Amino acid sequence: MLSTSMTDMFGIDYPIMQSGFRYISRAPFVAAVANAGALGTLSAHTQPTGEALREEIHETRRLTERPFAVNLTLLPANIASYPYDDYVAVIISEGIGIVETSGAKPAAYIERLKKAGVKVIHKCTSVRHALSAEKYGADAVCVTGFESAGHPGEDDVPSLVLVPRVVDEVKIPVIASGGFADGRGLASALALGAVGVNMGTRFLVTQESPIHADAKAGLAAASERDTTLIARSLGDSVRVLKTPATEEVLELERAGADKTALFPLIAADVWHQALTSGRLADAPVPSGIALGLIHDVPTCKDLVQRMMAQTVATIDRLGNLKI
Ligand SMILES: Cc1cc2nc3c(=O)[nH]c(=O)nc-3n(C[C@H](O)[C@H](O)[C@H](O)COP(=O)(O)O)c2cc1C
Repeated sequence: MLSTSMTDMFGIDYPIMQSGFRYISRAPFVAAVANAGALGTLSAHTQPTGEALREEIHETRRLTERPFAVNLTLLPANIASYPYDDYVAVIISEGIGIVETSGAKPAAYIERLKKAGVKVIHKCTSVRHALSAEKYGADAVCVTGFESAGHPGEDDVPSLVLVPRVVDEVKIPVIASGGFADGRGLASALALGAVGVNMGTRFLVTQESPIHADAKAGLAAASERDTTLIARSLGDSVRVLKTPATEEVLELERAGADKTALFPLIAADVWHQALTSGRLADAPVPSGIALGLIHDVPTCKDLVQRMMAQTVATIDRLGNLKI
């Protein structure tokens, strides 16, 4: 155990979260994270309907008795195409205690969730968005820096600066996200004033992550120099692995391609196909700079255990410094 306000608030053993990934965050994987003592998160918009989300929640509960969260990714492009009202109704009726919102202001849903006693973590990429989430009533913010896989925002502020900036500005607990993959990172996040870490890329490369073994091997072999940002020309940057398909997207962006031309090459279905086929070269696959710290494919349990051992060893080492 390592107790922080994150572990107390969510009833977990360790201050480590796997936040929602579209298509990947399904029952067996989320249950493996939860059974490891960390906070697993199901992805709502992986499910086509509220009832499908209910089934996924039941399946997760069959596999774990531990708490887990549900992610609502509120990207403007998603809002019109997914049944968010139904997701929220199912979350509440199923007694889910923790929701992670991301992608846009949680204002439209937060009041309903809070009235039902759900704890809301809002994931965001800047001080101003963290302040706004606090104002809307979020219980915690997960701040994700420039290193992050997926959407790191447009401000390009790395976690080393963003996390303490947000800690200084908000009163609610701050979970550090973007670039965290081991116990040194968790110890650093705690030193910066965060209450724990969120990890995406690290959890993507685990035994239980539902992607092809070749994709896991390819990601484990990649380095911190192997990611880049696409879709910056659309004002909605996405950090992805550098692949031939990524180069093609960047080339089109340089030539002034618009959303309609780019979308078929960067859509979630395209990267998900690359991850499940193991052919990483086929798509710009969301991945973070933390790839430089990822060299193997542990079980979620082994990952969490060794991360905690390294966190404790790091804190001890710092405690032994002669001052
Ligand atoms: C393959 C993949 C898919 C993702 N999909 C989502 C998503 O649907 N919604 C979301 O809020 N974040 C998504 N993310 C971002 C992660 O939840 C997490 O915030 C991010 O990976 C943290 O940074 P890190 O990768 O440096 O640990 C995704 C990340 C990856 C690697």
